[in-house]
Amino acid sequence: MITVLFAHPYPDRSRANSRLLKAISDLDQLEIRSLYERYPTFDIDVEAEQTALRVSHTIVWQHPMYWYSVPGLLKHWFDKVLVRGFAYGEGGVHLLGKRCLWVTTTGGDLTAFTSGGLHAHSFSSFVPAIEQTARFCGMEWLAPIIVHGAHKISDAALDNHALNYRNLLQSLGR
Ligand SMILES: Cc1cc2nc3c(=O)[nH]c(=O)nc-3n(C[C@H](O)[C@H](O)[C@H](O)COP(=O)(O)O)c2cc1C
Repeated sequence: MITVLFAHPYPDRSRANSRLLKAISDLDQLEIRSLYERYPTFDIDVEAEQTALRVSHTIVWQHPMYWYSVPGLLKHWFDKVLVRGFAYGEGGVHLLGKRCLWVTTTGGDLTAFTSGGLHAHSFSSFVPAIEQTARFCGMEWLAPIIVHGAHKISDAALDNHALNYRNLLQSLGR
């Protein structure tokens, strides 16, 4: 099973993430858990989330980049679900060896992620906190799928990312 944790506070207004999500939504052995739709008051059902992770071989974190990180509810999900005894520490073996795929979209394009650009740092400067969250839990970190310039990227380029995403999940599902 592949579990996609989808964190977008306004899925109805999404251009990029909704397109990516649509491209994978009919795949077999895949569950999409839309966190903001499931937990509008941030009251996460930790047991249900951990059960979903236990039965998955691949865990996907998909979201728009917010303030160089994940949207608040996904951060809260990290805090509540990836706890000692489940994800790390004594007995915390439940994510060991599972694959983690990070799929994110950014408003900034590649020139924004340069020393002279709007975001002043390369995109790779913002990756370690997310990557290490997965690695700390013993997960295998896959090469992320990053869609830059989410508002201005062409439909064709966006479709290409969506197809890559679909193909990758299909190959991981086999
Ligand atoms: C609260 C907030 C914070 C954001 N922070 C960033 C950021 O740090 N870097 C960036 O490039 N874009 C940032 N953006 C832009 C979003 O990443 C962009 O709107 C999103 O990726 C578009 O995807 P969507 O079409 O699925 O909504 C931010 C947007 C919002 C609303």
